Amino acid sequence: MALRNIVQEGDEILRKRCREVEEVNERIRTILDDMVETMRDAQGVGLAAPQVGILRRMFVAEPEPGRLYYFINPQITMQEGRVEGEEGCLSVMGYAGTVARPEKITIKGLDRDGKPQEYTFEGFDARVMCHESDHLDGILYVDKARDVYDVTAQVEAADEEV
Ligand code: NI
Repeated sequence: MALRNIVQEGDEILRKRCREVEEVNERIRTILDDMVETMRDAQGVGLAAPQVGILRRMFVAEPEPGRLYYFINPQITMQEGRVEGEEGCLSVMGYAGTVARPEKITIKGLDRDGKPQEYTFEGFDARVMCHESDHLDGILYVDKARDVYDVTAQVEAADEEV
């Protein structure tokens, strides 16, 4: 496994629509494994292929430590409710924002072995899956956010209050 560079906002790669994965082979699995290592190293909860410069429809997500998902050619087949929450992105370092997302989704796709899988997620899990799915269509959370703020400035302000 190897760490990959995370593409940052402003790079056109993040704005392209990714193509389907046609065959889940060793090359794809290597990229996915590198993505997991890169996500964990950066202390993220999700990472989509375009964020490491690969324009394929796949992402990894770990909404809580040890609960790891691989999604290849994901499709959100059901969504209901709408709830606002905080989001950040490893491609928009130092910022966070408030984004409305479905409260509950069903998402299907292929797993790391190329086998079909389907999950229903709620709350934060659903938020993560929607955020990562958006990356595959060139959409960043900042496009949908009600507000985006500088997290580092907030930390400094909090320090000053003490
Ligand atoms: Ni992101």
